[in-house]
Amino acid sequence: MRVLMPTGQNDVLVSSAEVPRPEPAPHEALVRVAAFSLNRADLLYLTSARELRPSPGWRPGNDIAGVVVRAATDGSGPAAGDRVAGYLPDGGGWAEYAAVAADRLAALPSEVDFAAAAALPTAGITAARLLRAAGPLFGRRVLLTGATGGVGHYVVELAAAAGAEVTAVAAPGEPWQGLARLGATAVVHSVPEAEGPFDVVLESIGGEQLPKALAKVRRGGLVLWFGQASGQPVTLDFFDYFSGFESATLRQFTVYDGTDSWGADLAALVRLTAADRLHPEFGAPRPWSSVGTALTELAERRLRGKAVFLVDEMSS
Ligand SMILES: NC(=O)c1ccc[n+]([C@@H]2O[C@H](COP(=O)([O-])OP(=O)(O)OC[C@H]3O[C@@H](n4cnc5c(N)ncnc54)[C@H](OP(=O)(O)O)[C@@H]3O)[C@@H](O)[C@H]2O)c1
Repeated sequence: MRVLMPTGQNDVLVSSAEVPRPEPAPHEALVRVAAFSLNRADLLYLTSARELRPSPGWRPGNDIAGVVVRAATDGSGPAAGDRVAGYLPDGGGWAEYAAVAADRLAALPSEVDFAAAAALPTAGITAARLLRAAGPLFGRRVLLTGATGGVGHYVVELAAAAGAEVTAVAAPGEPWQGLARLGATAVVHSVPEAEGPFDVVLESIGGEQLPKALAKVRRGGLVLWFGQASGQPVTLDFFDYFSGFESATLRQFTVYDGTDSWGADLAALVRLTAADRLHPEFGAPRPWSSVGTALTELAERRLRGKAVFLVDEMSS
C-alpha cells in the first residue's frame, strides 16, 4: 500500500513509499482510508522538535475516515463495509490502509462525508475534553487563544452552544465573521484587547501569551494551558496573576488525561455534525499529494481550521 513517510529532512518533510498493509491485532479493524487530516502534532514530530519525535518506524497521521474492510476479530466495533471515522494514537493514518482499535472508531451516518469526518478526531476530541475539564459553561465568560486553529473552531462552537460567552483571539487581519458565526461573542486580535475578567481561559500559544492571558482570569477562575503553538517557552512571574489575595488555578491539560472513551467522544462529535450542530472548518479537501504544501502553510501560520486530504477516488 502507499503511505506518506517522514524523510528526516526539513525541506521535504514527507515522501510517498510502498509498505506492506498493516496486520491488525484482534481488537483492531482494518480500514481502507478515504480521507485523513493534518494536526499540529504531525508538524511538531516531523520538524525540529527532535526530542518529541516518536520511535523509529513512526509514520504521521492520527485522524482518518474510511470503510472497514475487515472487522476486529475479537468481535468488537463496526462491521466490514461500515463507514467510520477513527483516531490512531500512534499515527500511521496517512496511508491507504490503517489498523485502528475498534474502540477508537465511530460509525458515520450518511449525512457526514469522509472529509468532514476526518477533520473531527484529534481537534474535536481535544476541544470536547477541554470543555469537560473547564466545567459547567452556561453563563460563563471564556477567553480562547489560537481560536482560528483546528481545535479553536470546535471550542468556539461547542462552548457557545453550552451557553458560554466566548471571546476569541485571532491574528490581526483575520476576518472574524467565521468565528462569530460559530458563536463567538467577541473577536480580538491580541490578549490585552480582551475585556476581562474571564471565568475560564483556554491558552495554547505559550511564549508571551500565557502570562498575558493569566492577567485576564478572574479570582478563583481557571486557566487550562493546552499547547505552545508559538514554540516559545513561557516565563512566569508570580505577579502575572491579577494582584490580590485570592488565587486562580493554572492547569496543564492534555487530551490523554482521564479515562473517557475515544470512540464515544468521537461518536458524539459525529452525531453533532450529522445534526448540523457542529461544523468542521476545513476549506476544500485536497489531494494527498499536497500534504507538503499544507505542512508549510501550517508552519507559516497560513492555515485556518483543518486541512483534509482525500486518498484517491474514495472520497464520498
Ligand atoms: N494538550 C493536548 O492534548 C493537545 C491536543 C491537541 C492540540 N494541542 C495543541 O493545541 C494547540 C492548537 O492545536 P491546533 O491543532 O488547533 O493547532 P493550529 O491549527 O495550528 O492552531 C493554532 C493557532 O494558534 C495561533 N497562533 C498564534 N500565535 C502563533 C504562533 N506564534 N505560531 C503558530 N500559531 C500561532 C494561530 O492562529 P492566529 O494566526 O489566528 O493567531 C493558529 O490558528 C497547539 O499548540 C497544539 O499543539 C494540544
